[in-house]
Amino acid sequence: MGRYSEAFTRAAEDREGFWLEAAQAVDWTTPPTRALDDSNAPFYRWFPDAALNTSVNALDRHVEAGHGDRSALIWDSAMVGQVRRYTYAELLDEVSRFAGVLASRGITAGDRVIIYMPMIPEAAVAMLACARIGAVHSVVFGGFAAPELAARIDDAEPVAVVTASGGLEPGRTVEYLPMVAKALEISTAAPGTVIVKNRPEITGDASEHDGWLDWDEAMAGASPADPVSVAATDPLYILYTSGTTGKPKGVVRDNGGHAVALTWSMKNIYDISAGDVWWTASDVGWVVGHSYIVYAPLMVGATTVMYEGKPVGTPDAGAFWRVISDHGVKALFTAPTAIRAVRKADPDAAELAKYDISTLQTLFAAGERLDPDTFTWASEILNVPVVDHWWQTETGWAIAANLRGLEPMPIKAGSPTVPVPGYQVGVVAADGNPVPAGEEGSIVIKLPLPPGTLAGLWRDEERYRKSYLDAFDGYYLTGDSGYIDSDGYVFVLGRSDDVINVAGHRLSTGSIEAVVASHAAVAECAVIGIHDDLKGQRPSGYVVLKSGVDIDAETLRSELVAKVREEIGAVATFRDVTVVPALPKTRSGKILRKTMRQIADHEEYTVPSTIEDPDVLTALAEQLRG
Ligand code: COA
Ligand code: AMP
Repeated sequence: MGRYSEAFTRAAEDREGFWLEAAQAVDWTTPPTRALDDSNAPFYRWFPDAALNTSVNALDRHVEAGHGDRSALIWDSAMVGQVRRYTYAELLDEVSRFAGVLASRGITAGDRVIIYMPMIPEAAVAMLACARIGAVHSVVFGGFAAPELAARIDDAEPVAVVTASGGLEPGRTVEYLPMVAKALEISTAAPGTVIVKNRPEITGDASEHDGWLDWDEAMAGASPADPVSVAATDPLYILYTSGTTGKPKGVVRDNGGHAVALTWSMKNIYDISAGDVWWTASDVGWVVGHSYIVYAPLMVGATTVMYEGKPVGTPDAGAFWRVISDHGVKALFTAPTAIRAVRKADPDAAELAKYDISTLQTLFAAGERLDPDTFTWASEILNVPVVDHWWQTETGWAIAANLRGLEPMPIKAGSPTVPVPGYQVGVVAADGNPVPAGEEGSIVIKLPLPPGTLAGLWRDEERYRKSYLDAFDGYYLTGDSGYIDSDGYVFVLGRSDDVINVAGHRLSTGSIEAVVASHAAVAECAVIGIHDDLKGQRPSGYVVLKSGVDIDAETLRSELVAKVREEIGAVATFRDVTVVPALPKTRSGKILRKTMRQIADHEEYTVPSTIEDPDVLTALAEQLRG
């Protein structure tokens, strides 16, 4: 039996043994004697009798082991042309002092702290500082506008908001303070503390807002806080992600399972250990950033590169190769859309020839399917394994991967390879029965999920059950459809719900629809995700006007685009609006979104038997396909 098969079988058949062994790589204040608590199934808890501190695992343990001088974090900003380096000792010092700032404001274990920050080191410092005092952070991506921030504040009910004067996007600055002020105004929760990191490039003055603290001033007088030991089952963070409705889902991650799973993943999936330089080109606002910019690389004592910039245009398509070469990156993790952007700008990889990237051993991709074309291009220009792996905010780490550290496997283009030990992945038909190899269906995971996966949704057990557990008894519903081939390789083809994936960002068409529908001229609308060569998908809106409304198409489009930008954020990249006479529906009134998408994407489609009026569909097809 190969090492992969052995690990997979052991994780399935001797769960306790497998995960208690993996847990030995973590520093505990109370080591676990048990792995899984299934007494309240289907709500599982990992390492129920253990305690630890996550920031100690990321920082203190390395300093105490004599590695304080080792490089922990390299911040490389293509936006301001600066590089800042932190050793483990320096990062520990910053984190302990910021934890002291939070503690001095009365923030304590279990309190929630919203972190709304761009890609600057202080974002990681704030996350780790929360972990140090047992506070629960909830990072909100900087591309979300005030109402989205407010929705998260309302749900998490934080005692504090940590933010910065702003973020830098190519050609524009994003001022955060007016957005925070507006979010606090519309929110019903009232966090008592707001702390602002002022960036010299973006003047936004915390002192203009009553009671808001300046990060640097607060840090100047701060005394370091000691780590607080928390139960392994206590929440480390809440991360909101898009569901099928407009209301985001607060995915809750625990401390213990998270530390065990991420530590295991670095060695076994990514083949990264202490001293290696690792770079995840994502954003701390996404799960990929939480797990693989901040926590996992630090837990194993590696050096993490935090990059502020884009793959192209900051200044050119050589940006990624420059960062790899400047910092000696061993492995890069990015989204396929970023690789497509580089390819589009530099199809012959002329920029690559300017840099020595001989340190690079692997390119990892996730966030969306790595399409075979992009896979082939990247493999050819880089001449290193290009490894797709599949996961979700909910799981926090890979469900299917090519485990480069455990046992590298042959790569099949279009597949994230095999289920990771701990995940028993299956494909089922609508009736819940498994489908034969090669046949498409809903991808499910047998319960319990492994450590590190979601403990639930923040204060919403009912939604957790309904969203993930009710569809197929004993299984977690991933929301993705796909198949498993006869070699056991998983192929993930796309979402089976109304979630769309735009440039590796997960968005809910429902929330965009809610904004579009609120325009005075709109009677009803549907937003669907259609194919986009660069971003994978993009949202496309179909609008029925109220009778008697007279508005020209371009005015309507620009008003709707501005509205979505204002209420959801630039990240929604909503630009397409088509006025249609009617929307195709089933007899029970459900909009036929899937059929609409097939029409828009020029795919074959069948007219559903439940259709209310086939003529509406025919007219739509004629309008969209000409
Ligand atoms: N704060 C504020 N605005 C942001 C933002 C942030 N953190 N991130 C993106 N935006 C804005 C952009 O400025 C852009 O605004 P615009 O409409 O005014 O131009 C809009 O949101 C869309 O951004 P994006 O999707 O990034 O598109 P782009 O055209 O600027 O860049 C790519 C395209 C492919 C280069 C870019 O999407 C990319 O690097 N993707 C990688 C995705 C990724 O890392 N995903 C994480 C999952 S692994
Ligand atoms: P998020 O929660 O934002 O990480 O988005 C998770 C979703 O992105 C998954 O449910 C998939 O639909 C998609 N996804 C992520 N990684 C992959 C991948 N490697 N292959 C196919 N789809 C992916």
